[in-house]
Amino acid sequence: MNAHQTLKIGIVGLGRLGRRHAENLLQHVPGATLVAACSPLESELTWAKQTLGISNLYLDYEALLAHEGLDAVFLVTPTSMHPQQIIQALRAGKHVFCEKPLSLDLDDCRRVNAEATLHPHLNVMIGFVRRFDASYQDAYKKIQSGSIGQPFMVYSQTCDQFDPEGFFVNFAPTSGGIFLDCSVHDIDLARWMLGNPKPVRVYASGTIAIHQGLEACGDVDNGVAICEFENGRIATFYASRTMPHGHETVTEVTGTAGRLTIGRNPRQHRVEIADATGIRNECTPTFFDRFEDAFLSEATYFVNAIRKQEPLSLTLDDATEATRIGIAMRESLVSKLPVML
Ligand code: NAI
Repeated sequence: MNAHQTLKIGIVGLGRLGRRHAENLLQHVPGATLVAACSPLESELTWAKQTLGISNLYLDYEALLAHEGLDAVFLVTPTSMHPQQIIQALRAGKHVFCEKPLSLDLDDCRRVNAEATLHPHLNVMIGFVRRFDASYQDAYKKIQSGSIGQPFMVYSQTCDQFDPEGFFVNFAPTSGGIFLDCSVHDIDLARWMLGNPKPVRVYASGTIAIHQGLEACGDVDNGVAICEFENGRIATFYASRTMPHGHETVTEVTGTAGRLTIGRNPRQHRVEIADATGIRNECTPTFFDRFEDAFLSEATYFVNAIRKQEPLSLTLDDATEATRIGIAMRESLVSKLPVML
């Protein structure tokens, strides 16, 4: 692979997010092309054929990996499948992009790490998409240039719009719970913004405000957590599945000389409505509306890194650490006790 060759990619999983990645890879990512798709569902493969015009369609993942000339895979499958699918792809000699989180299990994270070290010429990246959002990038650069002094505290929230269909109640048992599924993004951001400090102690709590069905799998629809890091750095987190107004991701970084806030008032458009009820704006309805550009930047970054043979700034160690902290939060939620790391 060199900077002039087109990266041939196969997509695995064509669900809620896989379809978006597939459209990006086919139409919008320079230097890449989508050549094959894999899903166990005939209906999803039919969608890929009819909507994307992809003719190399596989019901079986191993058959996709054997596709002639394939350079890389995009894994957009249920989280429990990520570790094994990454390992299989590496053994087949493919670069791997895999959606977050890397895994729900720490031993699995370590197995993936160990396998990746056996294939140093292959890139593996976990999709912590917010790192590729223009506003988060800007904030990171400002922190690096010292504009808020020494950052010591992060508040980060991921709040999803209330879904009356109860999608999350069905999704929850395999998601790892609210902290590993949602807050894992915020955990990654906090580590990134604070300069990757070592976590020391975690405490978490939560409640079921609306989705009573979550009780059966020990999950909550609103969760809060604190993570203390070495050198007195602290991050606090909030995740919710019950916001009435839309998707609201906000991060605030406080330093010794200032504060940066990213995403406060997540406007859908730059339209302000003034009427008899007051002044307001509409909110981004879903995570994809908020991070659509970042998903494209993320895929473009991954493809460029392979074509230019550059190392990735977002590593498997970062993804492992995010899972480690998320697991501690889940343990604390259940035990109602702080968890030492
Ligand atoms: P989904 O349930 O809508 O899609 C899962 C897909 O995997 C389906 O197309 C299904 O047919 C396919 N699949 C299942 N078993 C398979 C197998 N053995 N081989 C190949 N394909 C298989 O789930 P969704 O929401 O698209 O999530 C997928 C992943 O993306 C999850 O890991 C989730 O955490 C992550 N995600 C990341 C987000 C972000 O902000 N970066 C947002 C939403 C999801």
